[in-house]
Amino acid sequence: MNRTLTTVRKNGKTKPSQTTQDVDPLNIKSLSVQRNGKRILSNVHWQIRKGENWVVLGSNGSGKTTMLSTLLGYFVPTRGDITLLGERYGNCDWRQLRMKLGIVSSSLRQLMAEDEPALHAVITGKYAMIDLWGKPKQADVIEAKKTLRLIECQKLANRPWAILSQGERQRILIGRALMAKPEVLILDEPCAGLDPAAREHFLQFLERMGQEQGAPTFILVTHHVEEITSMYTHALMLKSGRVIANGPMKQSLNSDNLSATFKANVKLRKRGGRYSLEIGENQGKWM
Ligand SMILES: Nc1ncnc2c1ncn2[C@@H]1O[C@H](COP(=O)(O)OP(=O)(O)OP(=O)(O)O)[C@@H](O)[C@H]1O
Ligand SMILES: [Mg+2]
Repeated sequence: MNRTLTTVRKNGKTKPSQTTQDVDPLNIKSLSVQRNGKRILSNVHWQIRKGENWVVLGSNGSGKTTMLSTLLGYFVPTRGDITLLGERYGNCDWRQLRMKLGIVSSSLRQLMAEDEPALHAVITGKYAMIDLWGKPKQADVIEAKKTLRLIECQKLANRPWAILSQGERQRILIGRALMAKPEVLILDEPCAGLDPAAREHFLQFLERMGQEQGAPTFILVTHHVEEITSMYTHALMLKSGRVIANGPMKQSLNSDNLSATFKANVKLRKRGGRYSLEIGENQGKWM
């Protein structure tokens, strides 16, 4: 896909700049974030090139969600540079630019209105709203139905949010994010709360989506190597707000880096193209 990128100036005016084919989806240099006296991220470098899909791994509290919140402009960097789709943080209207980032997170899941039908929940994504006020426009209904087909949820169109299963909700949230036609789709622990079969079906669904022509760049934030499927090309690992490893999957995803990331003695296994972890009982070495 080769869309024209518009630069959103602080005064709200736009001007065409480069095509999205030319630019890196994300480039973070020396990023540090401090909040309420606590240093949460330290000197993070992270570059995502077009065509790559990334997994972000890290233990609880390692700074993953803080990094995403900073990308979305909810946290102000203490130091460093963030360039998103060719636009540098501080030089443009970030509220407009972040519309190009789709995000699916558990906090969003809790915010959805209980009686909202799935179709409407998808439409709200186009306007970055939580529930729909008034009757939806016909054009939006048509687009949302197309999106429901893409996320394989046509049958759910009229079902209210309250009765959807966790797996169905995750798909609808992805559909919601896709309505804004994001260049980058961030999934913050999307498999949390899914049973093993639902998780596997969801991962296979993501894999199919990732293979679609013009699919966005995927960033999957997770604690579980089992969720890494073949669509992910690179991994970033965080420990206490610092980067432990950053690069192509083959080089970065190994037992040593994972042991450092999760502060435990772990062994990475790979079978049939998928990963699993064994956790050591103590500090002893694996044989
Ligand atoms: N506003 C804040 N002020 C001070 N500390 C904060 C603030 N927000 C987050 N933290 C701390 O920063 C650390 C990183 O939090 P963050 O939510 O980014 O971790 P995470 O990697 O997403 O964890 P999890 O895997 O549990 O979701 C935590 O210790 C958290 O308590
Ligand atoms: Mg988190």
